[in-house]
Amino acid sequence: MSPDRQREIQRRRTFAIISHPDAGKTTITEKLLLLGNAIGLAGAVKAKKAQRSTRSDWLSVEKERGISVSTSVMSFEYRGMAFNLLDTPGHNDFSEDTYRTLTAVDAVLMVIDAGRGVQAQTRKLLEVCRRQRTPVITFFNKLDMDALDPLALIDDLESELGMRCVPMTWPLGSGRNFQGVYDLRDHSVVFYRAAERGRPSEREVVGGLDDPRIDALIETRVDTLREEVEIVEMACEDLDPARFARGEQTPVFYGSALNNFGVRELLDCFGELAPPPQPRETRTRIVMPEDGEFSGFVFKIQANMDPRHRDRMAFIRVCSGHFHRGMSLHHVRTGKPMVVRNAMTFFARDRSIVETAWPGDIIGIPNHGTIRIADTFTAGEPLEFTALPKFAPELFHRVRLEDPMAAKALRRGLQQLCEEGAAQLFRPAIGSRYIVGALGLLQFEVIAARLREEYKVGVSFEPTPLRICRWLLDEDGGPATRFDRPFEHELYEDERGTPCVLTDTLHWAEYLAEKNPSIRFVDTMELA
Ligand code: G4P
Repeated sequence: MSPDRQREIQRRRTFAIISHPDAGKTTITEKLLLLGNAIGLAGAVKAKKAQRSTRSDWLSVEKERGISVSTSVMSFEYRGMAFNLLDTPGHNDFSEDTYRTLTAVDAVLMVIDAGRGVQAQTRKLLEVCRRQRTPVITFFNKLDMDALDPLALIDDLESELGMRCVPMTWPLGSGRNFQGVYDLRDHSVVFYRAAERGRPSEREVVGGLDDPRIDALIETRVDTLREEVEIVEMACEDLDPARFARGEQTPVFYGSALNNFGVRELLDCFGELAPPPQPRETRTRIVMPEDGEFSGFVFKIQANMDPRHRDRMAFIRVCSGHFHRGMSLHHVRTGKPMVVRNAMTFFARDRSIVETAWPGDIIGIPNHGTIRIADTFTAGEPLEFTALPKFAPELFHRVRLEDPMAAKALRRGLQQLCEEGAAQLFRPAIGSRYIVGALGLLQFEVIAARLREEYKVGVSFEPTPLRICRWLLDEDGGPATRFDRPFEHELYEDERGTPCVLTDTLHWAEYLAEKNPSIRFVDTMELA
């Protein structure tokens, strides 16, 4: 392997931020981009969010509700490393989008509000990281407000999430008394002075706990700090790279994203701690980032990024090889070649045509519906990446069409939106009224708004008593084709043609499973 290729792979870090809404994900994203010189002004990320929602119609749902629905990617450089930060929707109702994004990263930054400790949404997202054995780095945010005791925060995280914490920094006070952090690795004390909002705060670094300047700077609190540091150094484990890689240990940082306290310490360590691009499993073999031939998979499709062109962007995580502009890629599902001249790469501010991309990078391919989530692109090998999850929806609504003449446009719209992963579509074996399945109510609102705006179809959604979905697979994991006991009334087909049953009660689904012992009834599937 050429030294260039090796260097490019080793300097890449591809990660996502997970948090409970309001814990500070947007704020910390902005501070990371500021440190990476990808934006020049704090507030730009939020401003961009607002700008996007005025440009794109369906994002009006986002704007009205003050939520972030879409997922995007931001790349920046810091100290010779190339970071790809994959943003995830903060709202619970779009968690499936987040789950898929987590399959495309090599590490996760978990942001926890230090005033609240671990919250529900974080717990759920962390389960996904654990299933994929993604290493997690933790940032306790909002130390400038009343916060739980730092040791209590560690206890809470360890008992709630079952991971051992390894503090990398330690906070000096909290709320009004928050003065900075002690760096447990190089034993320096970093003092901060709040600056005007949006500007980097001033830092003053003092040698160690014995430095007499500390006494002057934090006066009465120095003994408490010395005591706390002694306890932490005795009680906490050392970082074990293997256990961190398996998600059993998490390095922990404290700070305040809003005031830019402790974010630099976090980013300085992030490059060292988080792994470079990792191997990825396919149905036939493990793909190593060092492999010479190009391969990558689609983890997200985002429509309407530019409403003037009604385009759809397929986001591909590069897993091996090297992408260059004008390259011909093999689209494994269709078996067709695709010459890619207009792939996009994303910076905080802008997007531009990709000239070249390496493992760990995310490229976007504009298309008009030919690419689906979980599609694989290679240099020719028929690989299929695994691990992209699809979860049984929990809410099932029937589609009511306002104008019966628009049935064809409805079918096309629903099919495309559901292939994008915006929700799931079920066609009944008997009858013609579609069911749309989702994990959260807001997904229905987004689908209705997008059908109206992008496909000119007016619909409303009516709740149904359906609650349970089980896909029907044969022993090899393929779609089941023979059923021992007919159950046409419960039988549906999803947007990819996989048969499934939708029932009102778990009991009835279990009864059907019992009567069909040769079929596997599953509630989670791998997309392929
Ligand atoms: P999210 O993306 O995780 O949902 O959170 P976001 O960054 O939008 O932050 C949620 C709120 O918490 C914002 O306030 C933000 O300013 C505030 N915040 C983030 N980090 C800190 C911190 O370290 N300290 C304090 N005190 N506040 C923090 P908001 O009032 O909802 O929005 P805004 O008016 O500030 O934009």
